Amino acid sequence: MSTQRTPYVGGNWKMNTNAAEGRSLIDSIHSTMKAGSVDVAVFPPFPYLMGIGQKLNGPISLGAQDLWHSENGAFTGEVSTSMLKDCGVSAVLTGHSERRHVIGESDELVNAKTKRALESGLTAVLCIGEQLEERESGQTDAVNERQVRAGLDGVSEEQLARVVIAYEPVWAIGTGKTATPEDAQDAHAKIRALIASMYSDSAAQEIRIIYGGSMKPGNAAELMAMSDVDGGLIGGASLKAEDFCAIIEAAQGSLVGS
Ligand code: PGA
Repeated sequence: MSTQRTPYVGGNWKMNTNAAEGRSLIDSIHSTMKAGSVDVAVFPPFPYLMGIGQKLNGPISLGAQDLWHSENGAFTGEVSTSMLKDCGVSAVLTGHSERRHVIGESDELVNAKTKRALESGLTAVLCIGEQLEERESGQTDAVNERQVRAGLDGVSEEQLARVVIAYEPVWAIGTGKTATPEDAQDAHAKIRALIASMYSDSAAQEIRIIYGGSMKPGNAAELMAMSDVDGGLIGGASLKAEDFCAIIEAAQGSLVGS
């Protein structure tokens, strides 16, 4: 990655852990993690946000996996950004592929949630990426472009400073299959060029574009060594403190000599 950008590593716990496991995972991360210039966030399930948030100290920030884009009202089961902020949340995922493809969220809904997160002062980690059949039919770049343009529709350049884009090829998520560093670099460079055309060169140079999809200690360093790969969004490997901290160390290492 570039030395201009601070790497970003997020741990997406998805619908995993219970209260005790979450607490012990955080304790282990605290005792294993070495200090360094990486932005680290964990994204526990909603019910544990406050408890985990109270345990966090130092450089780890608290993220949520989803939000609803209205302030309050008759939205049974949903959670607003003011509730999230009340729990200490400072970042939120939008457009994660499991929400797009399992729950059925549209580009429009992802956009509404992204805008709401940014208007509320949160960091939005906007997830994008193609499915296997889209990749096989040569649609990767078109899907990424559509999801970036739609996700950021109406987002100002000032707000973009609080956006992290996570490129997560859907076929690589939770499957053990990973994009090659070259494939990831190719996608990330195109996304950065798109941001330059939508905003400005400086906005494109500043935005963090992170990779997600079976990132593990064994492949993190080579992925993050790529000049446009600025960190990772980690699912499975974020549930093991040792693995998550090894990936954070790889992100720190990616700054050395780059
Ligand atoms: P994975 O998940 O690391 O388990 O592939 C990544 C993600 O869904 O963000």
